[in-house]
Amino acid sequence: MSNSKGLKLVDRDDDGVDRAFREDVLKGLSQQQKAVPARWLYDDAGSQLFEDITQIPEYYPTRAETEILTDRGAEFAEAIGSGRAVVEFGSGSSVKTPLLLQCIDPAAYVPLDISGDFLRASAAELSAKFPGLPVFPVEADFMRRVELPGDVEDMPKLGFFPGSTIGNMVPSTAVDLLRTMRQTLGAGSQLLIGMDLIKDPDILEAAYDDAAGVTAEFNLNLVRRINRELEGNIPVEQLRHVARWDDDYARVEMHLEAQDSVTFAVAGRDYEMKAGETIHTENSHKFDRRSSNTLLLAGGWTPVMRWTDSKGRFSLILAEASIARSAP
Ligand code: AVI
Repeated sequence: MSNSKGLKLVDRDDDGVDRAFREDVLKGLSQQQKAVPARWLYDDAGSQLFEDITQIPEYYPTRAETEILTDRGAEFAEAIGSGRAVVEFGSGSSVKTPLLLQCIDPAAYVPLDISGDFLRASAAELSAKFPGLPVFPVEADFMRRVELPGDVEDMPKLGFFPGSTIGNMVPSTAVDLLRTMRQTLGAGSQLLIGMDLIKDPDILEAAYDDAAGVTAEFNLNLVRRINRELEGNIPVEQLRHVARWDDDYARVEMHLEAQDSVTFAVAGRDYEMKAGETIHTENSHKFDRRSSNTLLLAGGWTPVMRWTDSKGRFSLILAEASIARSAP
C-alpha cells in the first residue's frame, strides 16, 4: 500500500508479510510478560469486530460520546466558531464526524487514516452528506507528523480525535502523539479529544468482557491473525480472554490467558506458556479531570472546555495549542 506521495505505508517482505507485524509479535512473545501492541488487533476482521463492540449493551463509550456530540452542538459552535479546517485523526468510518460538522460550520474537512480504502469510502460518504464542504482525504500514519494539503494551509485548524483512542497508549506514547498533532496542526489550532472517565471497575470490566463474547472474539482474533499471517500454531482454544482493571495505572488491560501449559511456534520460533500465563494485548486508560489535564498539558495543549454525558461516563475536551513559555 502506498499513499498519494508514493510513500509506502506498509512494508512487506517477498512473502507479503508485514515486517513490522512480525517484528512486534516475535519481540513481544519473547518478553517475560508476553505482549503484542494493540494496533495489530485491527485487521479487517478485527475492525469489523470493533464496530460490533460499539453496539453491545455493556460498551458505553460510543453511545456516551455520541450523546455529547448530539446534545451539545450549540456549545461546540460557540467554543469552536466557524471557518476551521477539521482534521480528524484516524477517521475510520467517520460515524461521529457529521454530528460535529453540522454544528460548527467548518471551512474544510481533512480525514487522516492509514487505511486508504476505508478513507476514500468514508470521505465520499461524507461529501455526499455535506455537498458544499471541501474534503481532502490524506492517507497517512497520524502517529507521525503529517503534511496537510496546501488548500487548508491558511485556515485555522480543529483536530478531532474522538473515541478515547488516546487511552490505548501508555502515557509516554500519548504525550508523543499529542505533540505530533500539535506540529501537524500548527499554532493557533484547537483539539477536540475524547477521553473515557474512571468509574466503577465492575462497569469497566464488563465493558471489556461482554456477555455475548464479542470482545473475547476481538481479542482472540489477534491470535488467529498471527497464526494465519505468521505461520503460527498458537492453540486458540487453549486461550481465554481476560479483562481486568489495574487501579495503579487507571486502565483496563486485555490479556489472553493460557488455560493449560502450551507450546507453539510462530514464524519458525518456539514459545511456551505455563497455565495462567498471559499475552497482554491492550491497555485502555481511563482519566479524571486532573489526569486528562496533565496529559494534555504535557502534550502541548491547554484544556479550555470539557463536556461529559448525562451519566458522567465519558468526556470530550476542547484544548488550544499551548503558547511556548519561557517560565514554568
Ligand atoms: C479503540 N479503543 C478506544 C477501544 C477502547 O475502548 O479502548 C478499543 C476496545 N478494546 C476493547 N473494546 C474496545
